[in-house]
Amino acid sequence: MSPIPQADAALSVRDLRKTYDGGVEALKGISLDVAPGDFFALLGPNGAGKSTLIGIISSLVNKTSGEVRLFGTDLHASRDAAMRLIGLVPQELNFNFFEKPFDILVNYAGFYGIPRTEATVRAEEELRRAQLWDKATTMSRTLSGGMKRRLMIARAMMTRPRLLILDEPTAGVDIEIRRGMWQTLKEINAAGTTIILTTHYLEEAESLCRNLAIIDRGIIVEQGPMRLLLSKLDVEGFIFDIDGTLPATLPPIEGTTLVATDDHTLDLDMPRAMDLNRVFATLDGAGIRVRSMRTKSNRLEELFVRMTGPNAASQQEKTA
Ligand SMILES: Nc1ncnc2c1ncn2[C@@H]1O[C@H](COP(=O)(O)OP(=O)(O)O)[C@@H](O)[C@H]1O
Ligand SMILES: [Mg+2]
Repeated sequence: MSPIPQADAALSVRDLRKTYDGGVEALKGISLDVAPGDFFALLGPNGAGKSTLIGIISSLVNKTSGEVRLFGTDLHASRDAAMRLIGLVPQELNFNFFEKPFDILVNYAGFYGIPRTEATVRAEEELRRAQLWDKATTMSRTLSGGMKRRLMIARAMMTRPRLLILDEPTAGVDIEIRRGMWQTLKEINAAGTTIILTTHYLEEAESLCRNLAIIDRGIIVEQGPMRLLLSKLDVEGFIFDIDGTLPATLPPIEGTTLVATDDHTLDLDMPRAMDLNRVFATLDGAGIRVRSMRTKSNRLEELFVRMTGPNAASQQEKTA
């Protein structure tokens, strides 16, 4: 990752910090780049700083320091120009339930100065893509949960943003509804719009996104292509305490990384599916006797356990 902002990135963030009044350090120096056309996930547990980051990018929250560029435009220097490039889907449903979907979209476009004739054309297009065209003139209060969520996406697309940002669009909604939204988002991305979404569902990031960053307590703990991260998650780490002193050269064990951290300690990373007996047989053959072993705690692993484990799920329901 380059230390200077990338001019050609859809989003380029450098050393972004946010301390709220009262002293909470929500972002502790975040840097990331999202390429044009990407489908990017910002994954992290509750309180990680995801909404703060989205808030700053969409000018709803003031940064403490750092730099944000949208398609090369500095957010701080040219706020209005940068704002025209993005569409935001907040977590909470915030349209008027007593308006009809078609009117919600056309009025929203009007707020952004889009002429009415153009707005009506776009509204039909967006409602069709969101599979809501047959509900265009239904009171939106009566739409199902999934339809309401898709309406939020359709509305954000009315300004034809180059970057669509969604903050936990599916938190607390059931799997059927989520899949329906994923379909809409995939179509929008395939048509050329860059998408960034925050989520605490690993499954969601996995089904949708090509690249991701994992954020925890205001720090990016991991970022890169989704498939690279998934391959890392398939690795298990162990530490072996050895009787006596280790030989000068260690026997190679295919598919693993074996390192001596001192004279009588070994550090092993191996695929989760691999048989530990093979490791012991090789070590035994080299005259290395393992006295005890423990699992290496993997920060990333812990993070995912927290995010996808039973506690995370119950927290979600409470906040939904
Ligand atoms: N307006 C605010 N004032 C003070 N602290 C805040 C405010 N908004 C968020 N925080 C705190 O900042 C941290 C990050 O919150 P947030 O960005 O909402 O995380 P996430 O969206 O990942 O759950 C949390 O500790 C949260 O309590
Ligand atoms: Mg949030």
